[in-house]
Amino acid sequence: MTTPLLEARGLSKHYPFPRSVRQWVGNAPARVLRAVDDVDLTVESGRTLGVVGETGSGKSTLGRLLLRLERPTSGQVLIDGSSPDTAGAARAHQLRRDVQVVLQDPYTSLNPYLTIGSAIEEVLTVGGMTSREERRARVAELLEQVGFPAAWSERKPGQLSGGGRQRVSIARALAAGPRLIVADEPVSALDVSVQAQVLNLFQRLQRELDLAYVFITHDLAVLERIADRVVVLYLGRVVETGPADALFAGPAHPYTQALLNAAPALGRSRSTSSAVAGELPDPASPPAGCTFHTRCPFVMDVCRTTRPRLTPIAGGLQAACHLHEGSTPDPDPPATP
Ligand SMILES: Nc1ncnc2c1ncn2[C@@H]1O[C@H](COP(=O)(O)OP(=O)(O)OP(=O)(O)O)[C@@H](O)[C@H]1O
Ligand code: SF4
Ligand SMILES: [Mg+2]
Repeated sequence: MTTPLLEARGLSKHYPFPRSVRQWVGNAPARVLRAVDDVDLTVESGRTLGVVGETGSGKSTLGRLLLRLERPTSGQVLIDGSSPDTAGAARAHQLRRDVQVVLQDPYTSLNPYLTIGSAIEEVLTVGGMTSREERRARVAELLEQVGFPAAWSERKPGQLSGGGRQRVSIARALAAGPRLIVADEPVSALDVSVQAQVLNLFQRLQRELDLAYVFITHDLAVLERIADRVVVLYLGRVVETGPADALFAGPAHPYTQALLNAAPALGRSRSTSSAVAGELPDPASPPAGCTFHTRCPFVMDVCRTTRPRLTPIAGGLQAACHLHEGSTPDPDPPATP
């Protein structure tokens, strides 16, 4: 088996709640919010892993952990099987450059006073490109890669549309020479027609540069178009994962089914972040057993007390649901002579 480009093993991020004086005096146990809880995932070179879930499901926290912008409470992130924490300095530097970010809001991620050429050049300088001529040539190349004429390097972010600013964010991420981009809701702030253009750009760059993506969104319709594999998060835990084709053809977990029923096709209208019936529980005190049991139309007694484990089912999918426990996955395909 080949080593994945990116792997998360047992990744968790728990945020402690400050205790009130009364809780402190009463010696009440410290409470934590399990934003990300024991998540395993892998991303292969040149492929797209989609991460989906409602608001507060832990998508951005997971993204920050993969980008190493936050330290995990437990678990680890490996790139090519190595952790930047234990690699030598030069290797750790390279591993960090391998994974870059594109965020939802290019308004806040770009400095309004810098020309877009300078914003991209900044990344090249930090990356150690000392020759000004080389940097200028590379900026022109990157602008062209994201669909802009080189002459636009003198424009300021305010002179561009939302989609244009997102292209600049992508060019900045590319300037570091990454092998993987973590894109957190990169098209959610854009009009539907512009969304399609930016998704096309992501797909073209993937083909041209063999890039891998972790594509974070609350919109399954976006993932149907772009993802090879999908991870569905609910209250910080993976409830379903597997190949995108199988998941869209027959989602196994009732939560994925509800998300999919609520998601209109790309290009018609956008899904909302609260499209699933029932109230999202307080993430600080999630329900016992299956955390989805308060909203699930198939809830059984066991669901209220026992947490289901991720279980392999047909089509390469895995779901954490008592409905699927004991199900038999597809047998291995017969060996070809
Ligand atoms: N720094 C923090 N301190 C405490 N709690 C946090 C922190 N960051 C996130 N959380 C909590 O962790 C949970 C997951 O948040 P996160 O932002 O990862 O969700 P999300 O899926 O990205 O949501 P959205 O779709 O709204 O962007 C939420 O309940 C959030 O309030
Ligand atoms: S474990 Fe039970 S409550 Fe949870 S999704 Fe499955 S059927 Fe629904
Ligand atoms: Mg988020």
